[in-house]
Amino acid sequence: MASSIFKYVFTDFLKPMLQLLLFVFPAFYAAVFSLLLVFAFVVFLGRNPPPATFVFDPQVIAIADPANASGLPFPAPPHANTSLGVGRKESPENASDLAPAAANHSTEAEKGRGGSPEKGQKASESGKDLATCDLFDGRWVFDESTPMYPPGSCPFIDSSFDCLGNGRPDQNYTKLRWQPKGCSIPRLEGKKMLRALRGKRLVFVGDSLNRNMWESLLCILRHPLKRKHRVFEASGRKEFRTDNSYAFRFEGYHPSSLLSFLVGGGFRSCASCSRTAQDYNCSIEFFRSPFLVRESSRVDSQGKSRETLRLDLIEASSDAYRTADVLVFNSGHWWTHEKTSKGYEEEHAAARRNFYQEGDHVYPQLSAEEAYRKAMRTWGTWVDTRVDSNRTRVFFRGYSWSHFSGGQWNSGGNCDGETEPITEDRHLAKYLKLTGILESVIGEMTTPVLYLNITRMTDYRKDAHPSVYRVPAGKRKPGGFQDCSHWCLPGVPDAWNELLYAMLLRELS
Ligand SMILES: *[C@@H]1O[C@H](CO)[C@@H](O)[C@H](O)[C@H]1NC(C)=O
Ligand SMILES: *[C@@H]1O[C@H](CO)[C@@H](O)[C@H](O)[C@H]1NC(C)=O
Ligand SMILES: *[C@@H]1O[C@H](CO)[C@@H](O)[C@H](O)[C@H]1NC(C)=O
Ligand SMILES: *[C@@H]1O[C@H](CO)[C@@H](O)[C@H](O)[C@H]1NC(C)=O
Ligand SMILES: *[C@@H]1O[C@H](CO)[C@@H](O)[C@H](O)[C@H]1NC(C)=O
Ligand SMILES: *[C@@H]1O[C@H](CO)[C@@H](O)[C@H](O)[C@H]1NC(C)=O
Ligand SMILES: *[C@@H]1O[C@H](CO)[C@@H](O)[C@H](O)[C@H]1NC(C)=O
Ligand SMILES: *[C@@H]1O[C@H](CO)[C@@H](O)[C@H](O)[C@H]1NC(C)=O
Repeated sequence: MASSIFKYVFTDFLKPMLQLLLFVFPAFYAAVFSLLLVFAFVVFLGRNPPPATFVFDPQVIAIADPANASGLPFPAPPHANTSLGVGRKESPENASDLAPAAANHSTEAEKGRGGSPEKGQKASESGKDLATCDLFDGRWVFDESTPMYPPGSCPFIDSSFDCLGNGRPDQNYTKLRWQPKGCSIPRLEGKKMLRALRGKRLVFVGDSLNRNMWESLLCILRHPLKRKHRVFEASGRKEFRTDNSYAFRFEGYHPSSLLSFLVGGGFRSCASCSRTAQDYNCSIEFFRSPFLVRESSRVDSQGKSRETLRLDLIEASSDAYRTADVLVFNSGHWWTHEKTSKGYEEEHAAARRNFYQEGDHVYPQLSAEEAYRKAMRTWGTWVDTRVDSNRTRVFFRGYSWSHFSGGQWNSGGNCDGETEPITEDRHLAKYLKLTGILESVIGEMTTPVLYLNITRMTDYRKDAHPSVYRVPAGKRKPGGFQDCSHWCLPGVPDAWNELLYAMLLRELS
């Protein structure tokens, strides 16, 4: 009896107690101890937070980046000793030493253009501050460190811009960097730009040349990221030519996200915890809108439906991008015919009959230039009245040259075999009328439009179009059209994005 009671006490009471003491309690203490450790670590991190990252909002800039902290949201990028320390007054040279250097520089640059593109400039040549220099007055220089993403490495490039993939043998066209006369532009560092765009939308609106630029930016921003799968088209599309709009999400995510969430939740306001949960949370989008105004149709006297262009109405999807943080517009190629075979003479844009419409009125005939002026004014009024310029930076990218010789795009015009840029200014084209119209409309607007004046810089680059390499060798037809309008990627649009970045920095400093 006693033994059975003892056995009962032992098996049902003492033994479990012993087990509890031996196994569960140590585990419990270990757990408590490690929780304390984690807590201590979190407290430590909370007291020593990583430096507040720059945010694009003008209001937040003021908080995150007091004007006199360092003058700049980003540290000055290292750039082959030519860095000027964007927006900073400090410079390797004395200010008084800079003026003559800048003044003499232009003549040096002129000489440089006469010959072949030269190696990157010396620091002494980069005279003026980025803040005041004309970014679009410069030349192309050979630079082994370009391009910003290796050829063939980016899955977002449309096959018709993928010259290397389509068998283009030479690669020098990917190694030219744009060098303004009066300053150096900061190298576009993808991660820094993404951090600046955290929680923001950057939207390209325009024709296929803006798609060219959009794809270039996607590749530039994606290349330095480790977790490339965190960059994806919002609805999973893998082809970027046919639809009217695309949105790429750059989410980013790092292992400390959970921790920063805890830190954010525990020691800061919860606004910062939602922000830190994703690294970038930024969206880089493209809206196809080659005219910027609305494509429409009407029924003619024979009862047939005819296409028209409403010069008085902004394009229908404009509400979808009106509130973006950065807008980059373009429009040009669809208004005018391409250059003639005789050099780069501007061809008088052909009038299109019964195409342009304002209200109920269809113009029997209107020159493309007049139509362009009306459309750009419609666009300008829309920007001035519907876009909040405190929130949104509005860019317009100017006309990008085509280089068809021996015919037009659809009549045997070609540019294959061009492997070097134009080096002599006298071979450049006359200024284009459309550009003058655009510049005057922008000048009349109340919104400060940031004008990417790339017309001349593209004129040099007859070497950088896809030409026959718009299609893979196997699918090429003899006598097929060449593409001397768009640009191979990597290539010229990368430089436009560098200038876009430089202008954004300039805006923010
Ligand atoms: C920052 O600049 C303001 C005026 O712009 C000045 O009053 C203030 O003393 C400066 N602070 C520092 C730390 O330089
Ligand atoms: C850049 O500057 C560093 C230090 O100031 C120097 O060692 C280096 O040689 C310079 N490089 C060039 C290309 O001038
Ligand atoms: C800058 O100017 C000061 C005096 O004006 C001079 O002593 C110094 O050598 C100059 N620095 C350079 C890099 O020219
Ligand atoms: C720059 O030009 C001025 C005249 O415009 C000349 O006196 C000076 O020697 C030049 N400096 C250099 C470094 O060429
Ligand atoms: C590429 O450019 C470099 C530097 O200008 C030049 O030395 C080289 O010959 C060029 N290569 C080709 C294939 O044109
Ligand atoms: C991401 O950014 C959008 C604005 O573009 C914002 O509405 C959203 O709350 C952000 N999400 C996170 C998780 O930060
Ligand atoms: C933009 O900011 C200015 C100055 O801060 C202010 O006066 C103006 O009302 C703002 N405009 C809008 C549309 O919020
Ligand atoms: C754009 O650049 C061209 C030449 O590069 C220049 O003539 C024109 O004045 C510039 N336009 C503006 C608005 O700065």
